[in-house]
Amino acid sequence: MLILSIETSCDETAISVVEAVGDFPNATYSVLGNALFSQIEIHQAFGGVYPAVAKREHIATIVPMLKHALGDASLEKGFTPALTDEERTKVHELLAREHSLGDQVLSFHASFGRPPIDAIAVTSGPGLEPALWVGINFAKALAYLWNVPVVPVDHMEGHILVSVFDGHHLAPLTFPAIALLVSGGHTELILMNTWNEYEKIGVTRDDAAGEAFDKVARMLGLPYPGGPEISRLAALARTEKLPAFTTLPKPMIHSGDLDFSFSGLKTAVRYAIADRVLSDTNKKALARDFEDTAVAVLTQKLKTAIETHGAQSVILGGGVAANQVLREAISSLSSPLLFPHLAVYLPSISLATDNSVMIALAGHAHLKAALLPSQFATTIKADGNKSIQNSTWASL
Ligand code: KG4
Ligand code: ZN
Repeated sequence: MLILSIETSCDETAISVVEAVGDFPNATYSVLGNALFSQIEIHQAFGGVYPAVAKREHIATIVPMLKHALGDASLEKGFTPALTDEERTKVHELLAREHSLGDQVLSFHASFGRPPIDAIAVTSGPGLEPALWVGINFAKALAYLWNVPVVPVDHMEGHILVSVFDGHHLAPLTFPAIALLVSGGHTELILMNTWNEYEKIGVTRDDAAGEAFDKVARMLGLPYPGGPEISRLAALARTEKLPAFTTLPKPMIHSGDLDFSFSGLKTAVRYAIADRVLSDTNKKALARDFEDTAVAVLTQKLKTAIETHGAQSVILGGGVAANQVLREAISSLSSPLLFPHLAVYLPSISLATDNSVMIALAGHAHLKAALLPSQFATTIKADGNKSIQNSTWASL
């Protein structure tokens, strides 16, 4: 079957066409088309992502991404029956809040017709609601024109699944598995006793890990998103063997639970800087001190979670999983002195940050929850605070 997947939860507009042969989790997948537009340059001017700006950019780029993904997949142009006035009105109704997208969708349909897509997977949360709604309403309009079902997807579940994806298959996971999810909006530990079952066992009490990287980068005068910038400076500090700029606290490291806190670490960096003017050397050293501390806290909590739950596998997911120092620290958990039998899964660097391949995988996992246009009118909605634990898959 062919799945069209749509991701618009934050600042990436992404659409993929993924073929799945067989059932989840044993299917063979082929990514036929994968289009992604990053709004990063637009948001850099503001130092962060504003939902209204993200929404505007998704509206401007989602149809070009659709054409790109379908073009990559070399899908034949479909039969294009002339639409009735009622059908045109319905498309405009579905996209009433995404001005101009209704016209774009209708003109796309007039020239491309109905491609041989079997289902549409779309992120319904968590994320920025105005941004999520663009993807959801777009999915509904396409599903209506193509008469295919839509499956709402949890963004964080997408991060988990893509981390065990080798390009064609999902790894044969041994359970219990623990996922450490580290992104711009979330930092959580998830226990999986089997596929499609998630229990949140640890969360951040304040900032997410990625958010802390972004905020510290801003304090150092580095552009958004800060994660890669901090890593770049930290790597230079290591090569140059710079001495520590400061000693940072490791918040909650001995708290006895699996929760995190990154706000204190961020504040400690602010105090360390105070009103000093930092030299480039200071910045590199501080970036390294911060990265080492953040990685140490994440690794320590994951270690405790593995011990507590007897985990056989660990999965690192989310944008911060692109961080090389974190990847090495998590990989080394399977060393002979720690957990020699532990299987460690890391996402490919290119699929660690937001993308739509991960949404296709999560959509395939929940195909049974797919709803036809006659059923999804009010059921599929954006949920900015969607929690993987409270997901409503079971009840759909
Ligand atoms: O998963 P993601 O792409 O978007 C959300 O769902 O939030 O994660 C984005 C976050 C940003 O905070 C970004 O700074 C961080 O991932 N990030 C990194 C690295 N690459 C991206 N953090 C640390 N090191 C990196 N190399
Ligand atoms: Zn994400």
